[in-house]
Amino acid sequence: MLIELKDIKKYYHLGDQTIKAIDDVSFTVEKGEFVSIIGPSGSGKSTLMNILGLLDVPDSGKYLLDGLEISKAKEKELATIRNKKIGFIFQNFNLLGKLTAVENIQVPLIYNNENNNQSKQRAIELMKKVDLEGRENHIPSQLSGGQQQRVAIARALANQPEIILADEPTGALDSKTSQDIMKLLTELNENGQTIILITHDMNVAKKAKRIVKISDGKLYE
Ligand SMILES: Nc1ncnc2c1ncn2[C@@H]1O[C@H](COP(=O)(O)OP(=O)(O)OP(=O)(O)O)[C@@H](O)[C@H]1O
Ligand SMILES: [Mg+2]
Repeated sequence: MLIELKDIKKYYHLGDQTIKAIDDVSFTVEKGEFVSIIGPSGSGKSTLMNILGLLDVPDSGKYLLDGLEISKAKEKELATIRNKKIGFIFQNFNLLGKLTAVENIQVPLIYNNENNNQSKQRAIELMKKVDLEGRENHIPSQLSGGQQQRVAIARALANQPEIILADEPTGALDSKTSQDIMKLLTELNENGQTIILITHDMNVAKKAKRIVKISDGKLYE
């Protein structure tokens, strides 16, 4: 099992109010799966994604990623695991505005101690993989939304992560561009990439092989 969550809770306390953002969630994902998590605004999707992506820690429960118990890992270990095992894709692409497409893709490779030449070569190959040949030296503002998301996908793939986590990856795109991005993600999954995708859009969720619902912090298969 690649991902195993057991009885995960994440509560927020505001004054005397308790918000059960993640309420006793158990969830497993096998290698090679393509899972959508669908739920309305405020249901806990991003909170869950942040926990899965080691960007946030649950209040209680157990998280095993690739057999490693996350709650026992130190902050420095977590950063390494995050960089090597997880690729992130966000609604707003989160590219660095002053870097070119290729340089953006190089970022996680350089964090992983690859030298400039090696990482540049790999970034150029990844640009081909996401069908962006010829746009290598464009900065994000010189690319369309769909193209920026492709750069973000290439960056997410850079360190050959075990898993891709996508939080509303098509949320900022028109429906045609959305479909193209979902097609790319589907192809990646067909080639063995494990993907967890978060969305509030059933048309997007349906592209995955498995759909899980989230509502008020609870998961339903
Ligand atoms: N830092 C925080 N402090 C207090 N409450 C929070 C915090 N972060 C999230 N919440 C609350 O936790 C719940 C889940 O939030 P979350 O961001 O996970 O929802 P979401 O499903 O991603 O929503 P959206 O579709 O709008 O992005 C919400 O009720 C939210 O108000
Ligand atoms: Mg969200």
